[in-house]
Amino acid sequence: MKREQWGSRVGFIMAAVGSAVGLGNIWRFPYMAYENGGGAFFIPYLFAMITAGIPFMILEFSMGQRHRGSAPKTLKAISSKFEWLGWFQVGVAAVIAIYYVAVIGWAISYFGMSFTQSWGADTNAYFFKSYLHLGDNSPTNLGSIQWGIAAAMLIAWAITYSAIAGGVKAGIERASKIMMPVLFIMVLALIARMITLPGALEGVNYMFQPDFSKIWDVKVWAAAYGQIFFTLSIGFSIMLAYSSYLPEKSDISNNAFMTVLLNCGFSIVSGIMIFSVLGYMATSQGKPITDVVSAGVGLAFVTVPEAINLLPMPYILGPLFFFALVVAGLSSHISLLEAVTSAIIDKLHWSRRKAANVVVGVGFVLSMAFATNGGLLLLDLVDHFANNIGIIASCLVELILMTWMMSIAESREYANQHSDFHIGFWFDVCLRFISPAILAVIIVTKLNTLLTVGYGGYDLTLGWVMIAVLFVIGVAINVSSKDKGVQA
Ligand code: ALA
Repeated sequence: MKREQWGSRVGFIMAAVGSAVGLGNIWRFPYMAYENGGGAFFIPYLFAMITAGIPFMILEFSMGQRHRGSAPKTLKAISSKFEWLGWFQVGVAAVIAIYYVAVIGWAISYFGMSFTQSWGADTNAYFFKSYLHLGDNSPTNLGSIQWGIAAAMLIAWAITYSAIAGGVKAGIERASKIMMPVLFIMVLALIARMITLPGALEGVNYMFQPDFSKIWDVKVWAAAYGQIFFTLSIGFSIMLAYSSYLPEKSDISNNAFMTVLLNCGFSIVSGIMIFSVLGYMATSQGKPITDVVSAGVGLAFVTVPEAINLLPMPYILGPLFFFALVVAGLSSHISLLEAVTSAIIDKLHWSRRKAANVVVGVGFVLSMAFATNGGLLLLDLVDHFANNIGIIASCLVELILMTWMMSIAESREYANQHSDFHIGFWFDVCLRFISPAILAVIIVTKLNTLLTVGYGGYDLTLGWVMIAVLFVIGVAINVSSKDKGVQA
């Protein structure tokens, strides 16, 4: 069967940027920057973008295009001993997809509420108590399904399903070509209004104000690298799958640069937008900005609604913000699911529709765990392990495989043959030495923290079991393919 292809270069860039730009940019990036030293975060962030983001993107685009396969197929083509890594990455993408959709579901609900700001004045109590119905729950005591949240998630699943089942060109590319321009226009409209609000510039200054005492903190570097991999969708099977649909004559390095720069530029713009609102809020309430910021999930669903209550024309700006969040989230959700679907099609040779039915059907059922009273807590725990252990470990192993166990110079050569401009030796240095060394320090530090301090006061068994299960599944598939290989 001939492999599907993107219809045009613009289509591919839109899909890749659609995958990269997501919830990670609009709510994760601003609070990561805020928590990790404001302006000082940009130094590790830009360093991570240059030493890991750009070269890793070029490497994944080259590998996907060259081997024309999803992550397991591509990694198997490089070394039959490493098919497991591809399945591990697909597993990480699947796990992220099933909790990511919950946040999109919340954004859909909030979009509906934003026309009348029906969340009321106490947005904190509203989100946790009236919306999530979070009580005495924990990640292992989830309570019952909240049908309103489940219904909003069903809408998100239905849109993702139609893009995936429609195919690479008629489904994903078409959806991305509509979603991305709409998203960029909405965010530009929002920022144009927000930046002129009284106090907005103080908010923006606050985000960019450097706290250099944090620059030597490993945690800040870990946050910057973790954010770069997550936001660029690299190292967890997505960009390998997307680039496997590139035609033979494609410009690899240029496409990679464009995807990274558009994504990171979008993050900075989103940060400016969010912090303008926070600055305005602080000014109108006469409080210091530190008192109005709530980190994490709370930023988008507690602080932003509170700010919307205070904005002029809240019935326009509120829906614009939440619609942008939904669109950004959906285009990334589509890519997370496509990474899984394409791996199944490659392995089992199912039709796209059959693979989409099974992947979306199973995903929907599992995602209901996040529509429960304790869904937010489960999400927090699973997200922490998926990002800090799953993605970081899989990126490290992928880098070792692709730069130490095979010739990195040959990969650079391949990229150069398929690009307008040539990349030099810096590519090898970044991927062979700098990034693996930093990733190794990050993972050791993270493991140590999880084992000694823990995370969020949770019982972490579930997180460890999840990582172990993904690893065992990957190895089991790898072993069974080898056995089949021997028989054949
Ligand atoms: N890259 C996607 C995001 O940032 C997963 O949300």
